[in-house]
Amino acid sequence: MGKFTLITRAGEAIQIAGRADVPLMEIIRDEGHDELMAMCGGCMSCATCHVYIDDLPNGQTLPELGPDEDAMLDASDYRKPSSRLSCQVPWRDELSGVTVHIAPEE
Ligand code: FES
Repeated sequence: MGKFTLITRAGEAIQIAGRADVPLMEIIRDEGHDELMAMCGGCMSCATCHVYIDDLPNGQTLPELGPDEDAMLDASDYRKPSSRLSCQVPWRDELSGVTVHIAPEE
């Protein structure tokens, strides 16, 4: 199953268990962290699920950024190279050990 570390906007570090094929956004929300607003429910029209994902352990890579996700992130004032929409990143065990930061609120 594996776990990741979530860093909240207040800087609190929380260990969360992954769930296979479930988007990070849903896992974070199901843990009760509603500062990740995810207003559109994962249909990629809000960007309120913006996170920064640190480099993966062991040289693993994330699923490639698609053009629609890229365009949504471009609209953010807080975009960084590590930015992703957490609704577009499904959990897989290879992500175990990664750190995910909730991006600032727009
Ligand atoms: S939840 Fe709206 S874009 Fe991810």
